Amino acid sequence: MNQQLLVLIKPDGLKKSLTGNILTRLSETKLEIVAAKMVRVSRELAVEHYKHMKDKPFFEDLVKYIQGELHDRRKVMAMVYWGNDAITKVRQLAGATNPEEADPTTIRGSYGRITTKGLYENVLHTSSNELEAEREIKLWFQPEDIIVDLYPTEVIEVKMEKKCVWT
Ligand code: CDP
Ligand code: MG
Repeated sequence: MNQQLLVLIKPDGLKKSLTGNILTRLSETKLEIVAAKMVRVSRELAVEHYKHMKDKPFFEDLVKYIQGELHDRRKVMAMVYWGNDAITKVRQLAGATNPEEADPTTIRGSYGRITTKGLYENVLHTSSNELEAEREIKLWFQPEDIIVDLYPTEVIEVKMEKKCVWT
């Protein structure tokens, strides 16, 4: 069954120059990348993305982490992977949330670490189920950013919108 999910290369992954390695590992899945962009993560986006974790003691650090404030790299690479059984395939390659428990052959097992404060810096985010994937893809991407039709859309007329264009 075809599925889609959000994959983020987190700021530690970018700082460690792991983009190529991570994309190469994920290409083993034979899934398609149907959207990709670099994102400067606002606090608003970070809080919304991790809203289900807001009661965790590490929530503020998690927000700082995904915003790149812990790595002096204020960006993440956001992608949508699409294809047969995509969520299981990507999560298997990503490995367990705790990088020390992750199988060493997985991406997190190879490149993740636990900070001295106890935060799991695990290099990438991957949606864990179809509902979460839908919420996250719609949060990070607009319909026109994605080259296949994943979810129903509608056309609305937007008036008085301000837009930045090339001079
Ligand atoms: O990312 P994943 O879906 O595997 O795990 P999660 O339970 O949704 O947690 C989101 C993120 O919070 C993790 O990827 C870690 O960066 C962080 N986390 C942490 O630092 N310490 C924990 N005990 C659990 C999660
Ligand atoms: Mg999760």
